[in-house]
Amino acid sequence: MSIMTWNESWKIGIGALDNEHRDCFQLLDDIHTAVKENDAGVHDGRLLRMLYDRVRAHFAAEEAMMVGDRYPGVAIHAMKHEHLAKQLLALIARVERAPTNLNEHALKFLLDWFQTHLVQEDRAFGVWLNEHGKY
Ligand SMILES: [Fe+2]
Ligand SMILES: [Fe+2]
Repeated sequence: MSIMTWNESWKIGIGALDNEHRDCFQLLDDIHTAVKENDAGVHDGRLLRMLYDRVRAHFAAEEAMMVGDRYPGVAIHAMKHEHLAKQLLALIARVERAPTNLNEHALKFLLDWFQTHLVQEDRAFGVWLNEHGKY
């Protein structure tokens, strides 16, 4: 079984965000498969750039929702998104220099980040929305 498989227990209870999270994991899983099978898209960073675009779009949508709902944690949350986006860009640069930099270790880092961020930070937003009767 793939280590990247989406787990229903990671849902935060906000349908639109859960779908986007699942899409990000699906792409991570595709990248994981591509690494194992040594696909071309891995070597030129194409797949990682797709992941970057998808993640950025998700972060923007999530932050817009937080701003719209006046979530008090939005500034710190957005900083965490920004930090991950920078790390992802740095990884893309390393992979474009040397494709061997995209390995299981790098993917595991991304997976761990997403998973931890989901079940802690993103879920905290879901809980807050519920507590304030907004969702
Ligand atoms: Fe988030
Ligand atoms: Fe998220």
